[in-house]
Formats: sequence, structure tokens, C-alpha cells
Amino acid sequence: MEPYSRHVLVCTGGFCSPDRGGRALYALLPTLLEREGLLFGPHRVKRGETPCLGVCSGGPIVVVYPEGVWYGAVTPELLGRIVVEHLRDGRVIDEAVIHRL
Ligand code: FES
Repeated sequence: MEPYSRHVLVCTGGFCSPDRGGRALYALLPTLLEREGLLFGPHRVKRGETPCLGVCSGGPIVVVYPEGVWYGAVTPELLGRIVVEHLRDGRVIDEAVIHRL
């Protein structure tokens, strides 16, 4: 298997985000990753959706591994920043972090 540089999990459940905004984020993610060269190749990022991450408020929640950084209230705009600043450039967006492992 070709390696992945990171793994991103998007909660698409309805408790942390009553309008289930995570579903739109998850649908948007491959476009954002492809734009930054992170969908294929040596720096590719694995995507996953999950029905719940156990937070269940202040969502949508997006988690990035291996850093173990949890982002809350993720909008499409913030997801774009996560892709560019964190996934591409390796800088955690501290002001949007709600939890770290
Ligand atoms: S429904 Fe999203 S964290 Fe539980």
C-alpha cells in the first residue's frame, strides 16, 4: 500500500451539528485535497467519515491524525484553512482546536 501522510476524520452525525454540516464538509474535502496535491501521491491524505466522535456538541468536528488534533465548529472556510495550513503546511490552527490527544 502507498503511504498516507495524515488521516482526517469528519463527523457526519447529527448531534454535534444539527444540520449535519459534516456531510457537506466530507463531500468538499476531496476537492480541497486535490487542489493542494494531497489527494494522490507521496503526501496523500486518507479521508474518513464517522457517525460520531463522542463530542456531540459544537460541531461539525474534524480530527487530524497523527497529531491527534480535534477541530470544532468547522465551516467550509475553516476546512479550507485546515487543508492548506495543517495538512499541506503542517501548522495547527490553534484558535480552532477544541481537544488534543
Ligand atoms: S454526533 Fe458528531 S461528535 Fe457525536
